[in-house]
Amino acid sequence: MKLNAKNEKKLVTDILIKLGTQENQADIVAQATVDADLKGFTSHGIGRFSQYIKGFKAKTINLEGDIDIERETEAMALINGNSLFGQYVARRAMDLAIEKAKNVGIGIVGTHNGNHFGVTGYYSDLASQKGCIGVVIANTEPAIAPFGGKKPLIGTNPIAIGIPNEDTYIALDMATSVAARGKLLESRRKGESIPEGTALDKDGKPTTDPAKGIEGSILPFGGFKGYGLAFLIEILTGSLVNAGIGTGVKGTATCSEDCTKGDLFLAIDPEKFVGKEQFNDETDKFLDEIRADNGVIPGSLEVERVKGNLANGWELDPVLFDTLNDICKNIDIDIEDYAA
Ligand SMILES: NC(=O)c1ccc[n+]([C@@H]2O[C@H](COP(=O)([O-])OP(=O)(O)OC[C@H]3O[C@@H](n4cnc5c(N)ncnc54)[C@H](O)[C@@H]3O)[C@@H](O)[C@H]2O)c1
Repeated sequence: MKLNAKNEKKLVTDILIKLGTQENQADIVAQATVDADLKGFTSHGIGRFSQYIKGFKAKTINLEGDIDIERETEAMALINGNSLFGQYVARRAMDLAIEKAKNVGIGIVGTHNGNHFGVTGYYSDLASQKGCIGVVIANTEPAIAPFGGKKPLIGTNPIAIGIPNEDTYIALDMATSVAARGKLLESRRKGESIPEGTALDKDGKPTTDPAKGIEGSILPFGGFKGYGLAFLIEILTGSLVNAGIGTGVKGTATCSEDCTKGDLFLAIDPEKFVGKEQFNDETDKFLDEIRADNGVIPGSLEVERVKGNLANGWELDPVLFDTLNDICKNIDIDIEDYAA
């Protein structure tokens, strides 16, 4: 079965509302899910959605109540997500960071007690769409072994940076592992192998079998540099924000246990630094230099994929279709009504 942006948004929203999610929260989860699939990060779109439904059943995702702002100054805040949907907690956090940046130039908001939030770039985009630079980091349950070690002790800790620009989408959204864990979960579901150089099995030997990689460890990107970045993100989104750190982080790869990850959302308003116009003009000069050398602008891949996916939609693989169909049947929704 094929989906498109409009139908997937409606499908996700309808399922969540039928299961008792508050309407505004269902809408944000649906937006983030569609954003992932449009950008081609299918490991974090509808393919990851069934994990959240399991979270309802295990009561690791809370459908009631709202976030609490536990600490706050003009430039920072610390949010307790009260186990609500990660997408909702993250959205509220970035919205607050943007509001602070508009007031004082910078806003930095940490969250704990949230849940898996999907693609990191959805939240840095919120900042760049409002004229701010957005930086988002998060920790996840361990997958990367420390440099020199064998045991997974560090998350796939993603980072996304979005830059506001009048004409060009400029963004980078990546795990600090060679590939997001979600890509291994997706390859396992589809019965596909993973590229060499992605993961090690539990004995520390290279593997192209995603199941063995999930059981073992995923390599950091770029050798020590990726490892170092993952390590530091672990602290910035763990110790700093009252969240779990290292093996204390649970509940991101599945929703079978309470999620103890943390996130940090940063918004910077260029208007308060050099003014919006100067920032844009200087960035444009730099983009021209890169383009003159036929260089790739970070974010251009997402732009191309969004174009293609908006025009053509995307197919559900058979296992994913069956999983979603089962969820729908249980709540009296006919999934075929949403076919594109
Ligand atoms: N929620 C979480 O806990 C969590 C954890 C890890 C990753 N993720 C998400 O998983 C997704 C996938 O992460 P990943 O590291 O596997 O992504 P990836 O390796 O596919 O891409 C990383 C970045 O590099 C860019 N890129 C890669 N090849 C390119 C090329 N040839 N030309 C231009 N740009 C190129 C991509 O567009 C993207 O911005 C991301 O959205 C990330 O936020 C989420």
